[in-house]
Amino acid sequence: MKTVKVDLGKRAYDIIIGAGVVGKLPRIVSEISKNAPAVVITDRNVISGSGKILGSVLKKIKNPVVKIVLEPGERSKSFNVFAATVKKIASATRGHKPVIVAIGGGVVGDLAGFVASSYRRGVPLVQVPTTLLAQVDSSIGGKVGIDLTEAKNIVGAFYQPRKVLSDMDFLSSLPPRQINNGMAEVVKYAVIKSPEMFLSLERNIGKIRSLDGKFMENIVTECAAIKAGIVEKDELDDMDIRIVLNYGHTLGHAVETASGYSDLYNHGESVSIGMLMAGEIALRMGIFAKRDLMRLEKLLSDLDLPVRIKKVKAAKILDACKYDKKFTSGKTRFVLPCSIGKVKVVENVSPGMIRSVVSCFIKKS
Ligand SMILES: NC(=O)c1ccc[n+]([C@@H]2O[C@H](COP(=O)([O-])OP(=O)(O)OC[C@H]3O[C@@H](n4cnc5c(N)ncnc54)[C@H](O)[C@@H]3O)[C@@H](O)[C@H]2O)c1
Repeated sequence: MKTVKVDLGKRAYDIIIGAGVVGKLPRIVSEISKNAPAVVITDRNVISGSGKILGSVLKKIKNPVVKIVLEPGERSKSFNVFAATVKKIASATRGHKPVIVAIGGGVVGDLAGFVASSYRRGVPLVQVPTTLLAQVDSSIGGKVGIDLTEAKNIVGAFYQPRKVLSDMDFLSSLPPRQINNGMAEVVKYAVIKSPEMFLSLERNIGKIRSLDGKFMENIVTECAAIKAGIVEKDELDDMDIRIVLNYGHTLGHAVETASGYSDLYNHGESVSIGMLMAGEIALRMGIFAKRDLMRLEKLLSDLDLPVRIKKVKAAKILDACKYDKKFTSGKTRFVLPCSIGKVKVVENVSPGMIRSVVSCFIKKS
């Protein structure tokens, strides 16, 4: 078991990582409040994949438990589901201030976190991330929110949890594609900050595939520590520090949007291509070595992540770029790699360069 502290003064909290750590939930809830109802928000897939683990933990919670089970998928991060959830909480907890427990992937975490941030102007939140992506990324740092049809993550708040319990046992019921989804973010952290982790990923593809418990615990811990360190310096994402976490996301989001958020590319798969495209831009600008770009491409493809774009038109991707928040007021801002373990923010990458790199990544069939 490992602990990573997110040091945010009054809002500081621990991320506890390891097999079986969800067993600590009953005590954590009762430490937050002896009598408050525990509102457990989860989704149907978590129940079917990890029902046994959950059943035995929830039974041990002494506080009254209210369970809310969402439909799996991004559609649950909606205004309607938010409204239905707070209404259920209001009628089930009858005037008591609840503790919200989010047990699920990023969708459950973002929705439940937003509920916690706004219900009664804020009630305690515990995050129990059950996907690799949620363990290394979405459960940490306090960004919570929902989507509108107009845009993703457009309504939300910064709201830190009281505790994060990242239990490796949840990963065993995840489909391999969901593991890869999270691994793309893991590679992102390695490129941003950890050449050692990058090397370790290259050397241990087998352990990743077999979800070796100790190895995965170390990876989740390292990523959590990197994210915690960045969030501590720029909690509200207004100091140009947290932006490095967007490495691979600018063109990645454009690929995701251009593919209509279909099954073609999930988030991590889009980020995989986005990281390589940013690497290619950096190479052409002379700030990133060919050797490093090739290492990155090999690692991503060893992890079964896509390295070229299929079935999406370049024009659609370029169009989607225009709506990216980093392209504000006509400026094109990119987080580009300088080496494995170091990135920098570059302003005004020329539209011609972006067009050429995107076209170059379209796989001719
Ligand atoms: N708040 C942040 O800082 C932040 C950062 C990155 C991503 N996000 C958000 O996170 C979301 C994506 O998160 P995600 O990739 O975890 O997606 P997700 O929550 O949709 O989970 C992926 C799939 O895995 C299933 N699942 C979850 N846990 C399982 C388990 N243990 N066993 C079997 N199936 C399980 C889910 O039901 C779902 O079908 C997006 O909405 C994204 O915007 C937020």
